[in-house]
Amino acid sequence: MNLFPRLYKKIIVLLCCTFPLFVHAAGNAAHGQYLVAAAGCAGCHTNNTVDARPFAGGRILQTPFGVFHVPNITPHKQTGIGSWTEANFLRALRTGVRPDGQHYYPAFPYPSYSGITDSDLSDIWAYLQSLPAINQVNQTHELQFPYNQRWLLGPWQWLYFSSRFSTTITNRGAYLVDVLGHCGECHTQRNSLGAVIRERHLGGGSLAEDKSAPSLAPGDLQQWTDEELKQFLKTGDKPDGDVANTTMDEVIRTTTSQLTSADLEAVIAYIRSLPPVDSESGNQ
Ligand code: HEC
Ligand code: HEC
Repeated sequence: MNLFPRLYKKIIVLLCCTFPLFVHAAGNAAHGQYLVAAAGCAGCHTNNTVDARPFAGGRILQTPFGVFHVPNITPHKQTGIGSWTEANFLRALRTGVRPDGQHYYPAFPYPSYSGITDSDLSDIWAYLQSLPAINQVNQTHELQFPYNQRWLLGPWQWLYFSSRFSTTITNRGAYLVDVLGHCGECHTQRNSLGAVIRERHLGGGSLAEDKSAPSLAPGDLQQWTDEELKQFLKTGDKPDGDVANTTMDEVIRTTTSQLTSADLEAVIAYIRSLPPVDSESGNQ
């Protein structure tokens, strides 16, 4: 009886046929790298010192609620996210929940990222996993009471956050601006509890230290041509010879300048299609 060799043959054929499926399921790190640029992950997760190591965290974010120390997201087992599963990662970005069940602060713009598609999240995960593991311990945030009470983020999510995974955004420009680019995290006004006011979507927002991000709604946006707007998002140069201030300049360097020409055009087309924002609405 040569039953066993035949069985082996079958198993080998089966493995060969299904191998491409496994490869596909593993996520495309090269595409992940582009998505990470479009989403500006490195900007926040890399310190702004000269010797900073990419994605190892340490960066300080000043907010009206206190100081956040952005964590290490390299695959280091003890100090980064090296012990996470892909499912942990998906849940963090989609629902703002930590592997231990606690909630994240919206200083991590997961309310925008919750709209990232499953396959894009897998690609981002594949890219982050391909980075060198860097041993850099996270610092504790320094927030004022009651914002230092992480448990309050549960009720906060209940009030202000609904995971968007059921709604698929098919417009490329909207996906780049509202989901990956999280432009509204700065360009939309927030209420006193740090939630963006939906009615004032991209109608301008105030940032820490008295800075503000102007409205991107068509009636308010600078009367630049599409070409001038593209130039600004690529280089930070304004038509009058001025340059973007430090906050937007960083967004341009780490995010919009990395986009393909077609994606930049989709961003501009989407901004041009925004409805006007009523200055009276949503003041709460
Ligand atoms: C505006 C700044 C900012 C951007 C942009 C940002 N993050 Fe973060 N991220 C944070 C902060 C702040 C935290 C910590 C939140 C907390 O402690 O509740 C965080 C937490 C995380 C965590 C959880 C780490 C842990 O140890 O629990 C992961 C994973 C993460 N970010 C991945 C990403 C990815 C991937 C991107 C891009 C798609 C990204 N972040 C973009 C600020 C940012
Ligand atoms: C971290 C906060 C932040 C994020 C995120 C951000 N911006 Fe900005 N943006 C600013 C600030 C601050 C200014 C004002 C800069 C200046 O006047 O030099 C600005 C200015 C601009 C301007 C010029 C508007 C004008 O009327 O002068 C455009 C256009 C713009 N941003 C588009 C975007 C787009 C598109 C995104 C998302 C891909 C984005 N921004 C994300 C903070 C931000």
